[in-house]
Amino acid sequence: MAGQIFALHGRATSLVIEDRGDGAPLWRYWGPRLADDFAAGPGLLDERPVPSFSLDEPVPFALFPTFGMGWFGQSGLLAHRDGLDFAQSFTGSRIERAGTTLTCELNDSVAGVEVKLAIALDPDCDVLTLSTELTNRGDAPLHVQWLSAAVLPLPPDARRVRHFSGRHNGEFVPHTDGLGAALWRKENRRGLTSHWGVPGAVVLVDDAGDHSGLAFGAQLAWSGNSLQQIELLDDGRRQWQLGEWLAPGEIRLAPGETLATPQVLATCSPDGLGGVAANFHTAMRGRLDWPGGAMRPRPVLLNTWEGYYFDHDPARLMQLAEAAASVGIERFVLDDGWFAGRDDDTRALGDWRPDSRKYPDGLAPLARHVTALGMEFGLWVEPEMVNPDSELLRAHPDWALAIADRPMVTARNQLVLDMAQPAVSEYLFGALATLLTDLPIAYLKWDHNRDLAPAADRRGHAAYHRQVAATYALLARLRAAFPEVEIESCAGGGGRIDAGILPYVHRFWTSDCIDALARVTMQRGFLQFMPPEIMGAHVGASPCHSTGRSFPIAFQAAVACQGHFGVELDLLKLDEADRAELAAWIAFAKEWRHLLHGGRIWNGAARDGVVWHAAGNRDEWLVIVYRTAPMQQAHASPVPLPHIAPGQFAVREIRPGDCGTVRHFDGSWLAAAGLAVPPGPPHSATIWHGVRR
Ligand code: GLA
Repeated sequence: MAGQIFALHGRATSLVIEDRGDGAPLWRYWGPRLADDFAAGPGLLDERPVPSFSLDEPVPFALFPTFGMGWFGQSGLLAHRDGLDFAQSFTGSRIERAGTTLTCELNDSVAGVEVKLAIALDPDCDVLTLSTELTNRGDAPLHVQWLSAAVLPLPPDARRVRHFSGRHNGEFVPHTDGLGAALWRKENRRGLTSHWGVPGAVVLVDDAGDHSGLAFGAQLAWSGNSLQQIELLDDGRRQWQLGEWLAPGEIRLAPGETLATPQVLATCSPDGLGGVAANFHTAMRGRLDWPGGAMRPRPVLLNTWEGYYFDHDPARLMQLAEAAASVGIERFVLDDGWFAGRDDDTRALGDWRPDSRKYPDGLAPLARHVTALGMEFGLWVEPEMVNPDSELLRAHPDWALAIADRPMVTARNQLVLDMAQPAVSEYLFGALATLLTDLPIAYLKWDHNRDLAPAADRRGHAAYHRQVAATYALLARLRAAFPEVEIESCAGGGGRIDAGILPYVHRFWTSDCIDALARVTMQRGFLQFMPPEIMGAHVGASPCHSTGRSFPIAFQAAVACQGHFGVELDLLKLDEADRAELAAWIAFAKEWRHLLHGGRIWNGAARDGVVWHAAGNRDEWLVIVYRTAPMQQAHASPVPLPHIAPGQFAVREIRPGDCGTVRHFDGSWLAAAGLAVPPGPPHSATIWHGVRR
């Protein structure tokens, strides 16, 4: 007999589960929207013959499948009590529904475990928020090796998974793997989100692509280790599990204790990769916690790092601030090098007070100079880190994460503080609160410049999970105490970009690689998961410091326009013409940020090395067309823009301080035949504005 059907409907998608009342509910459907009055037909098991060489009662794919009593696929839970109770099976479930949220409680009285699943659908953007809680109901400790935060069903025609890897200076490298019979699995064990282990992916059904076709996306909201796996099931569907990768012995639940997973955000769209991105952007905007409750126009910023590195001279920095104000910069960020003894990257992390040699009167004169010029003042910090050569570590050698009798593993000459020690977070809160109280700081760039190896306490017990939790707690405490301060998440560029840290921060530093050409691909990867207004994108020096390649200011600026626009170079070294050109681009970024940020974006590629980025809405948009390579064709191909809806549009090319003649097109023509763009050299861009007439 069919079990009870529970369905959640969004704008474009639905999910359906079946509760037979005798175990974990079954996954029946997740995909394009069903009719409100759909009928699910017979129960999953009702017309399904038992295959040969099978258990007499095969265990079907459930919302939370567990290994041991007949489910042979990946288990949502791997746990034991000193070798016992590894085989779990739920005998009963209790589902509750509140609006578009389902909670499901599962009990296994034999193994002594209780699991609570939460599935909430935001009907406006079709994004599910899922999480799992495990409680030890036995009378001995439970060792947990794996607890899936979400188990998602994928249809049999799911053929490819698009995911991203990378490295420092090379984030968001796209990969597409075919999904076959073997398990697809990706683990990140670096202790933070990492450049390599982007904790999310998009699964493409059949020939789904940039703008069309069924696509499923998921991402783990967590800034630590992660695991994702996609497995073929014996009915042709696939299961997708995401959660925190746990180190051996890391989680041991005492009787009565509960482990709550991070959340997973998951979505499904009939509009391909772009549809998944758009749904995620709406969900991320809902998670952002802006000072004052709403996003202000994103202030164009100047960061001192690549212009000055550790070489801080307040007089020159004041001149830089004046130059910055004169070109239209709105936020001035003093990067690494300002604190006691920090002349290079070998020392001083942890000693968060201004260097009295470089700043005899502290930072206040510079900060006040900046604010008097009408800009906000921002400051770089790296709270979770300490150099062995620092007053802090000399005073508290046991504050760093380290295992007794093992060497301390350094990276960039630094160690990681054990954030879960109350004295450590108390010290950091005090040091940061002093800076935020004493100085007019509107913005912190919060860095984290290494992987964790290992995250363990002195006895050698893994401490990855608690490190992340303690960092979130410190961020939350600071946000509560200084609600007006915005924070940027940086980890050697894009090593900590995830939905878990998002509620505490307001910008991500995408990469230390400011090379505009490299950024075209990288930013597209970022935008698969996160909205453009929080993507740090800078115009840098030419040649670019990380790659040695040179690009015109116009190309760099057109790439930076995609995100939260910034400048990272020594303005004082620019000649007058370059400074004027940069000022014009800053004015341009400000003029158009209302369309570039906060709306929808579309990304695509066209013939002959053309890549494009569009932003806005169906009635008004900007399209930035990049030439990434020398043209091989004699004539330029038009660029089809499939996101443009039918209807009459007035279209013109726009440039800083100038714009071309308005021409009229039908949207269906632009979508199918394309927009005629002029030929141009490699590393050039044209920008088009379209508005419905
Ligand atoms: C990291 C950041 C850079 C800069 C340096 C300072 O590499 O990504 O932007 O802040 O640290 O040391």
